[in-house]
Amino acid sequence: MYKLIVANWKMNGTLNKIKQDLEFYLNNEDTNQQDVIYAIPSIYLAYVGMLIESNKAEFKLASQDVSIYRGCGAYTGEVSGAMLADCKVSYSIVGHSERRCLLNESDALLVAKLNAVIEAGITPIYCIGESSKLRQSQQYLQHLELQLQILRQIKPINHLIIAYEPIWAIGTNLIPTMEQIQEVTSFIRNYFSDIKLSILYGGSVNSNNIDEILQINEVDGVLVGGASLKSDEFALICNKANRK
Ligand code: PGA
Repeated sequence: MYKLIVANWKMNGTLNKIKQDLEFYLNNEDTNQQDVIYAIPSIYLAYVGMLIESNKAEFKLASQDVSIYRGCGAYTGEVSGAMLADCKVSYSIVGHSERRCLLNESDALLVAKLNAVIEAGITPIYCIGESSKLRQSQQYLQHLELQLQILRQIKPINHLIIAYEPIWAIGTNLIPTMEQIQEVTSFIRNYFSDIKLSILYGGSVNSNNIDEILQINEVDGVLVGGASLKSDEFALICNKANRK
């Protein structure tokens, strides 16, 4: 199976950078693949959606958020799942720790967002992860289980993607040991033995550690933040993943 590589641009980029990078990715056989997914700021999604359509690109587009409100209506500032799908968005990140922590996104809100995404025909990339405090107190598996439990409340789904992103590894250059990643990804796999599941690892992934991470049995791909903003580095990550 080809590995899924998700570039999470977060709140970065300009129209000019997106044009340049995506044109480079379109013309590179490692980055123009259907398992390479670009999660870019919502303001630029329509542009990239048109780029995908006019170039018959293989790569896929993800949103970083979705409204809990459906279709169209009087919801100032919101972007619905239907609007995302209209812009060729195939995946949506839900539950990223930055949104859970900075915007206080609650479990109830995340269930509503997951359902909004699923109803729009978009595949959710649901993120879970523990803080360093929980890791040190040995309470991390209980915490992760609570984050997984909310998935029992969502609508039926064909394919679910779960990204394990320890908060202490995001943007820090601190990578868990391979045993630590193996432990949690196996825990996730056992928790959902009944559905089609892809498990990603995220947190300080780069071209130097990608080989080792992708060797872990349960890891089906990676979510890349900072390293996805440098096009050469991201292309190298995809190249190495492609060779697995
Ligand atoms: P990072 O971010 O690769 O910069 O650590 C990963 C993420 O937050 O998705």
